[in-house]
Amino acid sequence: MTLTRLSVLAFLVICTEAVTRPGVAPLVQLNDGKQIPSLGFGTWLGFSKEGGLEPVVDDKVQRAVEAAIDAGYRHIDTAAIYDTEEQVGKAIQNKIAEGVVAREDLFITSKLWNDRHAQKDVVPALKESLAKLNLTYLDLYLIHWPIAQYANGTYYDTDYVETWKGMIDAQVLGLARSIGVSNFNITQLDRLLTMTPVKPAVLQVEVNINLQQAELIKFCKEHDIAVVGYTPFGSLFHNRAAPDAPPPRTDNQTLLKIADKYHKTIAQVNLRYLVELGVIPIPKSVTPKRINENIEVFDFQLTQNEKDLMKAFDKNYRTIPVTMWIDSPYYPFNKK
Ligand SMILES: NC(=O)c1ccc[n+]([C@@H]2O[C@H](COP(=O)([O-])OP(=O)(O)OC[C@H]3O[C@@H](n4cnc5c(N)ncnc54)[C@H](OP(=O)(O)O)[C@@H]3O)[C@@H](O)[C@H]2O)c1
Ligand SMILES: *[C@@H]1O[C@H](CO)[C@@H](O)[C@H](O)[C@H]1NC(C)=O
Ligand SMILES: *[C@@H]1O[C@H](CO)[C@@H](O)[C@H](O)[C@H]1NC(C)=O
Ligand SMILES: *[C@@H]1O[C@H](CO)[C@@H](O)[C@H](O)[C@H]1NC(C)=O
Ligand SMILES: *[C@@H]1O[C@H](CO)[C@@H](O)[C@H](O)[C@H]1NC(C)=O
Repeated sequence: MTLTRLSVLAFLVICTEAVTRPGVAPLVQLNDGKQIPSLGFGTWLGFSKEGGLEPVVDDKVQRAVEAAIDAGYRHIDTAAIYDTEEQVGKAIQNKIAEGVVAREDLFITSKLWNDRHAQKDVVPALKESLAKLNLTYLDLYLIHWPIAQYANGTYYDTDYVETWKGMIDAQVLGLARSIGVSNFNITQLDRLLTMTPVKPAVLQVEVNINLQQAELIKFCKEHDIAVVGYTPFGSLFHNRAAPDAPPPRTDNQTLLKIADKYHKTIAQVNLRYLVELGVIPIPKSVTPKRINENIEVFDFQLTQNEKDLMKAFDKNYRTIPVTMWIDSPYYPFNKK
């Protein structure tokens, strides 16, 4: 075979790779008439080894979001505090310019930080996020935590019900098509439902195999609030797990058997399990292979027996307990 023929062959192989059908997450109906893709892409780089937030130093988030859009993700999760809004914005702009997606195909979420909880501060904070993202509207804006803090960390006592009124203002202005909350517990959601005229469309909370959130999910189903699940891998990976985190890890034989049966990875089986719980997972990765892997979860279904095995790992264990805020009057989690 000549060299030219070989390179034509190589070219064809590369093309075949490129046109492999990307993952497609079906849309889920929200209570405000909008729709959200049933799996999204996380962009928080996590805590650094020193304890603070991992600094955003190069363009790796931008590259990851570009890879995610190429892989078929249409739902992207960011937040003012992550310091990744600018990179998310650049990735979106590039993929729109390349003709891969249109703005209307994308579902972009950002979140209000704790230091902007006064009603009058919400719209200006949202405008700052929009400027960084270079967008004219968000698909979803969330109150990140029910806790109000000054930039120096001291608490102030603005009730999140006041903050929610600012969120309603943002929706009326069309700056956020849907509004919701994150890290609220049932009591806190109930206060919004009884004290304000607009229901949250979404609750974003930690959900994974160690923290399956049955009670909270049931409450949200009853009130037609969609549940987005953050930290969907929990403590599954050895490098992320605290020494006291309950099993499983990625070497668990029970999970390996299920994964092998479907020719999937344990990561994929975990995401699939969350989808079947009715949760919208938002896995984060900056690794192209994993980015592709994590959205390929819509071509298989777990049996009841497999789901029962996975249910048994629920230990009400939080990977992200934010115990540093335990003294706040609005701390949402059990203080054990
Ligand atoms: N509302 C909130 O308060 C809140 C809190 C936490 C998180 N979130 C959101 O939820 C998103 C996801 O949560 P998270 O970032 O905490 O954790 P996560 O998505 O559960 O886990 C991310 C970690 O898993 C690794 N990983 C991803 N896919 C993998 C795979 N297929 N195989 C092996 N390793 C894999 C990633 O490594 P690499 O990146 O190195 O590939 C990264 O270390 C965040 O990015 C953020 O958008 C929201
Ligand atoms: C914002 O996006 C527009 C296209 O919608 C583009 O023309 C402009 O250059 C972008 N601005 C920045 C600062 O990236
Ligand atoms: C934190 O910031 C607030 C508002 O600027 C200020 O009133 C308070 O004294 C500060 N607290 C500390 C401990 O620095
Ligand atoms: C794997 O999962 C099973 C439950 O299905 C559990 O009994 C076992 O302890 C786990 N193994 C490890 C090594 O975590
Ligand atoms: C929710 O959080 C509030 C504030 O910390 C607390 O008073 C309440 O008991 C919590 N409710 C639930 C159901 O955990």
